[in-house]
Amino acid sequence: MADFDVVVIGAGPGGYVAAIRCAQLGLSVACVDAGINAQDKPSLGGTCLNVGCIPSKALLESSENFERVTHDFAAHGISADNARIDVTKMLARKNKIVSDFTQGIVQLFKKNKVVSLFGTAQLAGRDGELWRVAVTGGEEVRAKHVIIATGSTPRVLAQAPFDGATIVDNAGALSFSETPKRLAIIGAGVIGLELGSVWRRLGAEVTLLEAAPAFLPAADEQVAKEALRVFGKQGLKIHLGVQIDGVAQAAGEVKINWRDVQGAAQELVADKLIVAVGRVPNTHGLGADAVGLKLDAAGRVEVDEHCRTSLPNVYAVGDVVRGPMLAHKASEEGVMVAEIIAGQAGHCDLNLVPGIMYTAPEIAWVGKTEQQLKAAGVAYKAGQFPFMANGRARALGETTGFVKILADAATDRILGVHIIGPMASELIQQAVLALAFSASSEDLARTIHGHPTLSEVIHEAALAVDKRTIHI
Ligand code: FAD
Ligand code: NAI
Repeated sequence: MADFDVVVIGAGPGGYVAAIRCAQLGLSVACVDAGINAQDKPSLGGTCLNVGCIPSKALLESSENFERVTHDFAAHGISADNARIDVTKMLARKNKIVSDFTQGIVQLFKKNKVVSLFGTAQLAGRDGELWRVAVTGGEEVRAKHVIIATGSTPRVLAQAPFDGATIVDNAGALSFSETPKRLAIIGAGVIGLELGSVWRRLGAEVTLLEAAPAFLPAADEQVAKEALRVFGKQGLKIHLGVQIDGVAQAAGEVKINWRDVQGAAQELVADKLIVAVGRVPNTHGLGADAVGLKLDAAGRVEVDEHCRTSLPNVYAVGDVVRGPMLAHKASEEGVMVAEIIAGQAGHCDLNLVPGIMYTAPEIAWVGKTEQQLKAAGVAYKAGQFPFMANGRARALGETTGFVKILADAATDRILGVHIIGPMASELIQQAVLALAFSASSEDLARTIHGHPTLSEVIHEAALAVDKRTIHI
């Protein structure tokens, strides 16, 4: 039995980053991970690297390139007749990116002297000051501190259990061996829209069935409205306020019986069905009950603002705790906890976590939405500027969308920034930095922005808060 300063359970972006940061700070660390890949081989990196952020972005890029070739290049005078997509090659490229990165974590662990253990870890009680952590296979390790970073798994819809072939979760949807002709998706959230976009661009007829009456309720309402318009125009059929009555499979097809927002019975037949109705925290097998680890009503590990659990020296980070289920949030919490364990002042402000959707156009935001400010009774000013009036966006041929900045009416402090448009995922970082430094909209307005760049739309939106845009 080996003893460590810290045992990290889970090697996703929460766990592997926490383990590396602990090691950087001079702590001895073991990281136990149960993740396996499609070949049943241990694979570090969690959901993000194996079946989440990285493979989805690889397919989004490939499919967007295909759409550009087949739809957009003609406007540049470029003809690419008979362009075809080789799905097998596209998947091989995606798989190579994934395996390079998961292998990269193996190397990073070696470099930082993090001991990597394969298996499912369970909290097995205490020996004095040390926590005992049992790993499947019989091994046991002990550590003064434990960081739980066990992530999340797809929520199963009772009417449509996953079969890995016709009814699939995110992992299956990232690996269709050919483009389905008719693709149904239950849940028009982030996964539904990103992966629905991938397969639509490659030729699938995509229909999304969404239970909520409002589209993308977490986004700013105006952004959500524009997104719904644009995605509809692209060909995604999105039905809101639906109820799923039943799902049945026959002869390689899947039939979904659903009710529309008026309650009228509808039927949808598809070749594949993706169910993407949110994710549930991964706490089974952890031994929570036996050691008295408190879970909240949603089954997440209960933590305070420093990710401390109900147990002494046991922390939890990432998807398994409250807050948005995002890789960068998980990593930042991992860093915070490592620094707290090492005696430093760790900090992670959940108000500064950007939300990003890698659709086309991309959607990104940070801080409060207009509807949140209204609900909280905060007096605010808004400034907005369209990509259509931006030279770089015109050159790119990507003119859909806008930037909206919300600032406190009295102090001018920026409270929220909302972007729908090209490279919103990159542009939002300027806004995150502005919020992190408590910038005012005037600070952004007085910052020199390079020309011609997409970031000038942020500059003009800041000028718009003071009603002094130059270019409209
Ligand atoms: P995970 O990444 O889920 O890792 C948890 C690890 O713990 C896994 O390896 C698991 O096997 C292991 N584990 C679980 N229980 C045990 C146990 N008892 N013992 C040992 N090991 C255990 N987020 C973004 O920020 N940007 C994106 O673009 C993005 N795209 C996504 C696309 C898809 C399709 C999906 C599904 C998710 C996406 N996410 C994205 C979300 C992101 O993947 C998660 O927020 C992130 O992976 C959470 O990190 P984590 O470390 O908390 O958990
Ligand atoms: P989600 O929460 O984004 O969307 C799920 C959708 O399913 C919601 O709109 C919900 O109303 C709907 N829904 C729930 N039950 C339903 C039912 N019975 N019938 C029809 N619709 C139903 O969750 P999703 O898309 O599964 O993704 C999980 C998480 O993964 C996200 O919350 C996000 O945190 C993360 N993710 C992040 C990405 C990014 O950062 N770009 C990309 C993909 C996933």
